[in-house]
Amino acid sequence: MLKGKRILLVIAGGIAAFKSQELVRLLRKRDAQVRCVLTGAGAKFVTPMALQVLTEDKVYSDLFSLTDESEMGHIQLSRDADLVVVAPATANILARMAAGLADDLATTVLLATDKPVLAAPAMNVRMWTHAATVANVETLRRRGIHFVGPNDGVMACNEYGPGRMSEPEEIVAAIESLLTTEKPLAGKSALVTSGPTREAIDPVRYISNHSSGKQGHAIAAALAQLGAEVTLVSGPVSLPDPAGVTVVRIDSADQMLAACLAAGKVDVAVCAAAVADWKMARPATAKIKKKAGAAPPALELTPNPDILATLSRRGPQRPTLVVGFAAETENLVANAIEKRSRKGCDWIVANDVSPSTGTFGGERNTVHLITAEGVQAWPTLSKDRVALQLAGAIALHLARPRPAEAAE
Ligand code: PMT
Repeated sequence: MLKGKRILLVIAGGIAAFKSQELVRLLRKRDAQVRCVLTGAGAKFVTPMALQVLTEDKVYSDLFSLTDESEMGHIQLSRDADLVVVAPATANILARMAAGLADDLATTVLLATDKPVLAAPAMNVRMWTHAATVANVETLRRRGIHFVGPNDGVMACNEYGPGRMSEPEEIVAAIESLLTTEKPLAGKSALVTSGPTREAIDPVRYISNHSSGKQGHAIAAALAQLGAEVTLVSGPVSLPDPAGVTVVRIDSADQMLAACLAAGKVDVAVCAAAVADWKMARPATAKIKKKAGAAPPALELTPNPDILATLSRRGPQRPTLVVGFAAETENLVANAIEKRSRKGCDWIVANDVSPSTGTFGGERNTVHLITAEGVQAWPTLSKDRVALQLAGAIALHLARPRPAEAAE
């Protein structure tokens, strides 16, 4: 997939820079051409000599080098690539990218490039969750910068949390998916549900859950990347809209169902939303007042419509393939198998959502894909990778001749 592709790898100054050498090796193994831009801080962690040997090319680091400029000006360097990868992308370089600075070769190249850019963040957990970094990442995402990771884990500073750079294999997978020109889902339509729903108790209170929408949004993005026309029906989340996807925002399960039905007949529906199973039988129209000494109000609940089951049993309007999710905390596979047949969907993606797994809201997911053919256990992957793998499986399935077509 990467044969002959030209990757410009910007290596900034963080301890994760040591992984960039392995990244270069994996890319070269796939016959990609790799050229490196090493920042001054990056050079404290990896040597230009090591990168030169691995890439079999010159390593660029100086904006004002007359030799470099006469050999390959920085504008040409920024454009003479199919993809620019920043790994590690430190808090500092992300801030400089967001601010549009061009005060060294790396940032100048990043400002001048007209090619897609993929950033693999790596930094201390507090730096990653700092409001400044959160805002910078959001700005960059809005401008179309792609991200892979970071992962959760123990860091060089011994703290635990999100901030570890993705493993080189994951970065290679993200590069492959960005440079994939094949669109096996071109001409197909997809409906994806994502995020939580909110069920009003009164005008100021609601019932909801911890879904962040990361998994559902990643699936919508992956299906769009493979060429599908995607409608994403999303509950309230704080994620940016995936590129090239039509997003319908809703609050409640009733609204989610209405939006899904309004999307019309689609080729594939993926229900990744964490829909509240119950809503208030009669939500209060005014704020329920807390009266001194009075007992807390009893909340009378009633079941919500089941969107997955409704789509699965939609007669002629039924999608060709309906994929549900099963969020379980015990007997994962057995419960998911039972849920698949009860709801009538074709596939179900089972994931353990016990708090210790960090599935709700986290960056990674460990899933089992359950189909009529059996159960596939997937390794723990980033949610983006789960999404791509699922989108790939959907593309393969939809490419198979249907029984009626096969008989013709
Ligand atoms: O959003 P993230 O933080 O990234 O987390 C991802 C996730 C854990 C939410 C996701 O991977 C996941 O498991 N989504 C399904 C959550 C859920 O509600 O599971 P469930 O087992 O309760 O429901 C089974 C299926 O029925 C799901 O496809 C669900 O969308 C669907 N459902 C449930 C109830 C309902 N009223 N209508 C539905 O369509």
